[in-house]
Parts: sequence; C-alpha cells; structure tokens
Amino acid sequence: MKIAIDGPAGSGKSTVARLLAEKLKFKHIDTGAYYRWVTYNVLSKGVPLTDEAGIVRAAAETDFTGIDERKIRTLEVSGNVSLVSAIPGVRGCVAAKQRAAGEKYDVVMEGRDIGSVVFPDAELKIFLTASADERARRRYQELLEKGGRVDLEEIKKNIANRDHLDSTRRASPLTRVADAVEVDTTGLTIEQVVARISKIYQERLKQ
Ligand code: DC
Repeated sequence: MKIAIDGPAGSGKSTVARLLAEKLKFKHIDTGAYYRWVTYNVLSKGVPLTDEAGIVRAAAETDFTGIDERKIRTLEVSGNVSLVSAIPGVRGCVAAKQRAAGEKYDVVMEGRDIGSVVFPDAELKIFLTASADERARRRYQELLEKGGRVDLEEIKKNIANRDHLDSTRRASPLTRVADAVEVDTTGLTIEQVVARISKIYQERLKQ
C-alpha cells in the first residue's frame, strides 16, 4: 500500500505523514529531506549553483542513508533547495532513490511529486493545502522550537518564493493530480488532519 501526500511548504505534510505512518504502522518517507540533503552537500562541497552538471554529479554521489536532520533545516538550505530540486538530472536521480526506498514497504511518502511522478499508482493520494500566512506561521513556530534564528517576514518571503518556483518549474512541478483528494488544513489541528486522512483511507479500503 502506498499513500502519497503532496502539498506546498508548511502545509503540514511532514508531521501529518509521520503520525499517519505511526498510526498505520507504515514506513514514513520525507522526500523533501532528500532534496535538502543534496542541497546541503552541494553547498558544503562548494559546487557553484550555476554549475548544473556539477550539481547533478553531486546528487549522484550523495549517500541518502545518512541524512542529518540538523544540517538540512537551515535557512541557507531552504533558500537554495528549490533551485537544486528544479534540475531534471537531480530529480531523475533522487526520484529513483525514493522509489527504491519505498518499493518493498507499505509507505506514507510525502513531497511534491509523489502522486504524479514517484508513485503515480499509489492507492491513496492526498493533496494538503493551507493558506500562505498559516504555513509561514507554522514554519516560524517549528524553527523557533528548534532554537533557530528566525524572522517571520523572511520565512514568508521564502515560502512565497518556494511556492512560485516549485509550482512553475518545468520538471515535475507541484500540482494536484486529478485522482488526489484535497485536504485544506487551515484552522485544523494536526490530530484533526490525521483523523480526516485516516477516515479517507478506511473508506478507500472498503471500495
Ligand atoms: O518538503 P520540504 O519543504 O522540506 O521540501 C524542500 C524542497 O524540496 C521544496 O522546496 C521542493 C523540493 N521537493 C521537491 O521538489 N519534490 C519533492 N517530492 C519534495 C520536495
């Protein structure tokens, strides 16, 4: 069983996907972390962001078994990840790794292109949304709790910029596929969102 959860930055995907996976005893895969990890490696190796071939090489050399959560949630990585993840060669390489990581298991996989590209045959596809302001506030809270340096206006700009880049890029842009169920999380608690998706899942099992 594959559950694909796609949606923009701050829509609640990561927390929802993690809790849903726990509840169903599925494996949780955060595909944004893969693109963040490539971006971190590109930055730390000093590969110029204008060197597409160099970035693709760095992606191919990346070991995804050792993703370091602390290193990938920085504003520097957030500010460059859309550029790196828009490169078709990077996407091809990363999507193949994601498919391999999820193939043998029941998974809740979250990202931007899971229902459209990585697992187009997923049995359940959810498209999570929330207003841009609410998404920025959530990211702000999250970074604050981690003790990071945060500025709400900077986060709003970063989210708006990523929304634009992620949905207008040519290689597998963020889109809601026709067979995805849209869940608007504005004003809902995480528990309410998880309950709503669990219900959709249970109904899908009966069909
Ligand atoms: O989910 P996130 O905000 O951590 O994702 C970071 C970036 O990675 C996001 O701006 C776009 C990119 N991404 C992608 O292009 N495709 C995915 N499946 C997941 C993330």
